[in-house]
Formats: sequence, structure tokens, C-alpha cells
Amino acid sequence: MITASSVFSTVFHTKSAVSQESFSLEDVLSEVYSKEVYPKAEQAANSQIQISHLNVTIKDNHILKDVNLKIPNNKITCIVGPSGCGKSTLLKTINRLIDDNRDVKINGKIVVDGEDIYGKKVEITHIRKKLGLLSQRPTPLPMSIYDNITFGCKIHGIRGKKTLSDIVKRNLLAAGLWDEVKDRLHAPASGLSIGQQQRLCLARGLAVEPQFILGDEATSALDPISSRHIEDLFLQLKKKYGIILVTHTLRQALRIADYVVFIYLGKVIETGSAEDVFRNPKHELTKQYISGVFS
Ligand SMILES: Nc1ncnc2c1ncn2[C@@H]1O[C@H](COP(=O)(O)OP(=O)(O)OP(=O)(O)O)[C@@H](O)[C@H]1O
Ligand SMILES: [Mg+2]
Repeated sequence: MITASSVFSTVFHTKSAVSQESFSLEDVLSEVYSKEVYPKAEQAANSQIQISHLNVTIKDNHILKDVNLKIPNNKITCIVGPSGCGKSTLLKTINRLIDDNRDVKINGKIVVDGEDIYGKKVEITHIRKKLGLLSQRPTPLPMSIYDNITFGCKIHGIRGKKTLSDIVKRNLLAAGLWDEVKDRLHAPASGLSIGQQQRLCLARGLAVEPQFILGDEATSALDPISSRHIEDLFLQLKKKYGIILVTHTLRQALRIADYVVFIYLGKVIETGSAEDVFRNPKHELTKQYISGVFS
């Protein structure tokens, strides 16, 4: 059970089990990045996602229509739009989650940190490592909390008990979950609450050192306190990552977005700073969406 005070103490005054010294989440994140576990850990500092003339059809339905976007690092970009407009399809296309479906045709270019992710020589596991996806419902693997976090690391060749234990601790700290699970790391992940499971999935994604975090309505299955907890984490994590969030909750976008992308029927209608899109929308459709004429 997450209480408001435990949220505050976990996010802002995490206590080390070993030293009992108080340190901030920012300290934890800088520690995560000072220890280069991966031999060629990519630096996310100036990376961005550039989408050019992206068209996606599924079974002859034109789902995404000439999408052109630049998504920066170290910012939260919220994608909003009515149900069925193509938000999840866009995230899945960025994460290469739908191109093995024969009904799907993808045209255009997506470049992440200078690399064309649909290039002929690109490995999908490499792309998925760069772009961690957090789904609407938490998807812990049917194994222990500890093994959930080390699973992806092992796939990427990380070995050694001490190294893996350090990764587990650092990423549980970064996801604001360490204090709640440090005494039961080898218990099944299925025993965690839904909010805790979502933070575990976040820790699992962070453990393979992505460049971007993609969230598809990542808080919609959570109670309000767990949801705010994840929002607070995103606000901290953007110092190290680019974050793209699909959300149906305009209030959430208002709270945390730096940039907003409004999509309608597969087309990008308006993009801009959250301030501009929410307070001075230019397009009539954006005005109507924000004022709740349709949802
Ligand atoms: N695998 C699929 N096969 C057929 N159609 C699909 C498939 N995936 C998505 N679509 C269609 O593509 C369109 C966009 O779907 P998508 O899931 O991207 O919308 P969304 O904006 O995420 O909606 P929501 O807000 O309800 O989650 C919808 O019309 C949907 O039915
Ligand atoms: Mg969706």
C-alpha cells in the first residue's frame, strides 16, 4: 500500500539500506549513469527521435498519415487524441512492435539518435533496448522481483552476481520501489500491488539503459496516488531520458508535458509546447478536443 508520505519519502528521500544515508533520486540516477555496465553504453545527451513521412496501413486501413515529428531528449512529450486516432500504433511503430504483422505496411523513416531504426542491418533487440516501452497494464514476468530486472540484462550479455545485484538495487531505487521490496527481492513479482508492478516494469526497462521511455497510458490502470508517483518519477527521469507518453488524461498532460502532439484520425494536427497547445491552440480541432467537444 502506497501512502502519500511513503511516496514522498521514496521519491525524495530514499534511504540506503546499507548506509542509512539520505540521498535524492537525482543522486541515484547520476550513479546509474556513472557506472557503465554496458561496454558501449550510448550517451543519450543529444539524442532525439526524428519521424519523417511516416505512413502506416493495417489491412488497407490508412492508420497513420504522413506523420512528421521531432521528439527531443530530456523532455516529456505527451501524445493526445481521441480513441482510435493511432496513438498506440505510433508508439508501437517507434518501438518496432508491429512490423512483424503481415497486415501492417510501414513507409517513411524513423531515426533514433542518428540511426534509421528500419534500416536493413538493424537488430530489433538493439532497438527495443534503446526504446523502453511501458504498457497500460503492468506486465511483470512470471518470476521473482529480482529476476524480472536481471532478465533483460542477461539477454544483453551482462553477467556476474555482484554486477546484477547492483543493477537490481540501482534501478529499483530509480523507480522508487527499493524501500518497499528490498526484503523480498526473491518473492514472485505477481505478489506486488498493481502500482508496484508498474514501477517494477519501469525498473526493468531502465535496467537495460534505454535512451527513451515510451509509455502507452502507463498510469491509466493505477490508483491516483500510484499514478502521481509514476508522474513524479517521469519528471525526475527526463533528466536522463527522452519520454514519450500517450495519455487520455489531459490533466496529466497539463501537469507533466513539455511538448504536446495532438493526433486526429491518424494525422498530426498540432504540436508545440504544452503551454501553447493547451492555452493557445491554433487548430479548431485542437480547441474542440481540449474543450471536451469530443474525446
Ligand atoms: N492489429 C490491428 N489490426 C487491425 N486494426 C488495427 C490493429 N491495430 C490497430 N488497429 C486500428 O488502428 C486504429 C488506431 O488504433 P490505435 O490502437 O493506434 O488507436 P489509439 O489512438 O491508441 O486508441 P485508444 O485511445 O483507444 O487506445 C484503430 O482504428 C484500430 O482499430
Ligand atoms: Mg491506444
